[in-house]
Amino acid sequence: MNPELLTVPTGSLAVPATTGSPLEFSLILPTYQERENIPKIVQILTDLLDPILPGQYELIVVDDDSPDGTWQVAAQLMPEYPQLQVMRRQEEKGLSTAVIRGWQAARGKVLGVIDADLQHPPQVLLDLWDEMVKGADLAVGSRHIEGGGVSEWSLIRRCLSRGAQMLGLLILPEVIGRLSDPMSGYFMVRRGAIAHQVMSPVGYKILIEVAARGRIRWIGEVGYVFRERETGESKVTWKQYVEYIQHLIRLRFSLWPVKRFVRFGVVGLSGVFVNMAVFYLLRGGLGLGLTRSAILAAEVAIINNFSWNDLWTFGDISARQKGQQKRFKRFLKFNFICLSGLILNVLVLNLLFNIFGINEYVGQLVAIAAVTLWNFWFNLKLSWRVTDAH
Ligand code: GDD
Ligand code: MN
Repeated sequence: MNPELLTVPTGSLAVPATTGSPLEFSLILPTYQERENIPKIVQILTDLLDPILPGQYELIVVDDDSPDGTWQVAAQLMPEYPQLQVMRRQEEKGLSTAVIRGWQAARGKVLGVIDADLQHPPQVLLDLWDEMVKGADLAVGSRHIEGGGVSEWSLIRRCLSRGAQMLGLLILPEVIGRLSDPMSGYFMVRRGAIAHQVMSPVGYKILIEVAARGRIRWIGEVGYVFRERETGESKVTWKQYVEYIQHLIRLRFSLWPVKRFVRFGVVGLSGVFVNMAVFYLLRGGLGLGLTRSAILAAEVAIINNFSWNDLWTFGDISARQKGQQKRFKRFLKFNFICLSGLILNVLVLNLLFNIFGINEYVGQLVAIAAVTLWNFWFNLKLSWRVTDAH
């Protein structure tokens, strides 16, 4: 008799918010060629978790159709371990997606991952669980804090690992800077923190994806020593380093509001034309004074820009903050930020031209670039700030 395996979820890589029969904890064991390690680790994890979470957890082996039959070995253990589930993936491959597919099929309120090769000391699981109980959204096993380390890594592997971390800090400081060990593959996360977020991990580093896209306020870290492998071998090759860099760059672009910025720029450009046209009408047509014409033209351009930004650039946010009063508040903030931008423009231009002796047109170009960034950023953070998400 063959025990029933889990169906592999398909479609986008997003974890659902709720499950039918909630368990407290689901732990994924991604495997590729681990047949010898599986019986050992399942036994150890069961001994550890049964006392603290009796009947309230599940272990999910997600195997990528290993030629050594890891999934079969795991499936044979199922009658003996009722909390054990097995998923055999035959189409998709790769560590990160294995973990997410496992979480998609999982029932737990807390979702975790541990290597199946016993290089992650299982006892640390209890400390990670403690962090979650205390209220962490993410609990990470770290090799780089007290109590952590790597046992017998070569100097080269240590350097590569640290170099990768430094690179991450450069490209993605607001994410990598929160983790002492961003390369860790040993962690737990609250389901609610990642529910509905579509993940698009590349390669091995699923933690970075979770920390970047999840709604993570509190991170708990627990030191652990990365043990030597007893049997089987690591699947890490140079390819993982390339994928890691690709991953960082992809995250950088999806975390920066690139699309909004482009729209904001287009609207800004339309404002230049509105400004010029109104200025021409007031000066040439009505013969108004220079300063008065400039001020009025600027205000009309501001109204133009605000309207388009409110409708288009930040349309999704405005739609959630309905009402004339709220709209007027956004308009006032927009005005105020544009005014501060104008002051910045004058300051930068004067600094570059009068102090650094830079050509005034080049100076003005630099000032416009700075002011565009300034206006965009503060309007994003103040005028169209997401206040109530629902
Ligand atoms: N399903 C699936 N698919 N599992 C995989 C795959 C895959 O393509 N590749 C590896 N695994 C499983 C392995 O069987 C093991 O259980 C776990 O994922 C980690 O893989 P290893 O190949 O043993 O990785 P490692 O020991 O070099 O790397 C560890 O350290 C990294 C930090 O340096 C892992 O903990 C990584 O998660 C961690 O990022
Ligand atoms: Mn390993």
